[in-house]
Formats: sequence, structure tokens, C-alpha cells
Amino acid sequence: MSDRVNRVVLVGTGAVGSSYAFALLNQGVTEELVLVDLNKEKSEGDAMDLNHGIPFAPSPTKIWFGDYSDCKDADLVVICAGANQKPGETRLDLVEKNTRIFKGIVDEIVASGFEGIFLVATNPVDILTYVVWKFSGFPKERVIGSGTILDTARFRFLLGEYFDIDTRNVHAYIIGEHGDTELPVWSRADVAGITVAEWLEQNEQYKQEDLDQLFLNVRDAAYQIIERKGATYYGIAMGLVRLTKAILQNENAVLTVSAYLNGEYGHEDVYIGVPAVVNRKGIREVVELKLDDEEKAKFNHSVNVLKSTMEPVLE
Ligand code: LAC
Repeated sequence: MSDRVNRVVLVGTGAVGSSYAFALLNQGVTEELVLVDLNKEKSEGDAMDLNHGIPFAPSPTKIWFGDYSDCKDADLVVICAGANQKPGETRLDLVEKNTRIFKGIVDEIVASGFEGIFLVATNPVDILTYVVWKFSGFPKERVIGSGTILDTARFRFLLGEYFDIDTRNVHAYIIGEHGDTELPVWSRADVAGITVAEWLEQNEQYKQEDLDQLFLNVRDAAYQIIERKGATYYGIAMGLVRLTKAILQNENAVLTVSAYLNGEYGHEDVYIGVPAVVNRKGIREVVELKLDDEEKAKFNHSVNVLKSTMEPVLE
């Protein structure tokens, strides 16, 4: 029996990071979890608190407060550190501040001898995933951003509610920037194997204007939640656990992550939310959906917004 154990290092134990750690434990996804944060007291407290829950967890996870040297033997380093959106702020407003923070973090992780996969959650996630790829020098497939994994989950949840069908029978994608320029791929959306267009044709109770509003509720969900409780963390944490499982269990799962485009969708040298096959080696390939003209135009706009925001930061 191999004594090889899965190790995840979490950098940043704020609301998103600690929710991710809690969800990871409750789903029994990894054998080792190391917490790294500038706030030693808080992270030590988190490690103690989480350890005391182990007897209730589906499988044992060794958890400790550590440092960047623990990245050397890690399979996955998940970065949740950085400033998060305040009411009225967009995700892109955070780019300068978080890029500066990331430079220090990535240098320390690479210096540890880490040779696993980076998973980035901090916003603006598409740009910061590009920054990690650039600063680390890692191959593009081993640098992944959470991208539109949560937006796609929100989309599927709301579509399931609207059509009264379990979300697991909803196949629909949100692609593009994890932010204001994201877009729904209506042309490829199906609920119980019936395209959304067919649902609308077959029953007049379902209306396009409802679906247009449904997408706006997806796109603006974070603003709505931040206005009410100051931050979002449970949904994204569960999306990060889903991604961690797909990687550690070599699933070849198709998830909408922030992936590097090297010609796919007609673009290159950008990280952006697209469906991709995720496994133990990172991103096996980007899934290139056939978009209709309107979707293509919106996707191109999203790429351009990301590139124009990124340029001054990376100069
Ligand atoms: C949200 C954060 C993760 O969309 O950007 O909730």
C-alpha cells in the first residue's frame, strides 16, 4: 500500500479559506491540510478548532498551521489570500492590491520546491491566475483559477428552481470573466436533456424575459450577498472543494474554471472561465463549445476587458 498521502496547502484563512477548509474536512477529500496565513494566532486557532471536529468527519485529515516550506510535498496549493470586494466595489477594483500581495506569496511557494498544482480563488480571479502563472513559471495546465465554477453553479441552481428539476439534471455553462462581463451559453443549455429553447417552445408558462432576469441574478449574485452579509464564502468554498476532488481523485471532470487559452475560442495569452477537463495533472484540455454569434461577441468582449485591465498591472 503506497504511503503516499494527499497534501493540500491553503494560503489565506479568511472567510473563504476557512470555509474551504471546513468543507474539505466534511467531505473527507484529503489526508493532509496545512493552513498558512500571516495571522498566526487565527490560523492556529482554526487548525485546533477543525482538528476537534475530526471525530465527526467521514475520514481522518491531519491539519496543522504551517508555513511555505510545507508546500514542498504538497499536491495542491490553494490561494485564498488577499483583499475581497467591499460593498460597491467590483472584483476588478482589487487587481493592483492583490497582484502585489501575490508576488510575495508565489515567490515563497516556488522557493519551497513545490511541484504540484496551483488553485487560485482570490479576485479578480482570472487576472490573478494569470499572475500566478507568470510569476511561478509553471506550465499553464498546472495553474487553475476557480473561474466561473460558482457562477455556473448559481446558473444551474436557478434554472433547476425555475423548471422544478434537480440541479444535477441541468447542464448549462457560464463562461468568460468571473465578473460583470460573464455570459450564459444559452445555445448549449439543457434541462433534463431538453434544450432551454425547447422548454420555452413547449410551454408558454416559461418566458425568455424570466430567463434573462435569471441570468442577471446569477451575474449580480455576489453584490446581492455582499450587501446583505458583507462577503460571500460558502458557495465559492464548495466550488473549490469540488475542484480539489476532481484533481486529487483524477476525475477528468468538466468544470468551468479559469484556464489559459492558447488559441481556443479564437484567443490566446489570457486566463478566463471556460469548460475544461480537470484531473490529477491539472487541466487536460479546454472544451471548446460552439458559441452562437451573440455569445462569441460577448466572450470576445470579456477577453478584451480582462486583457485591458491586466496590461497596466503586468507592465
Ligand atoms: C462570488 C465571489 C467568489 O462570486 O467572487 O461570490
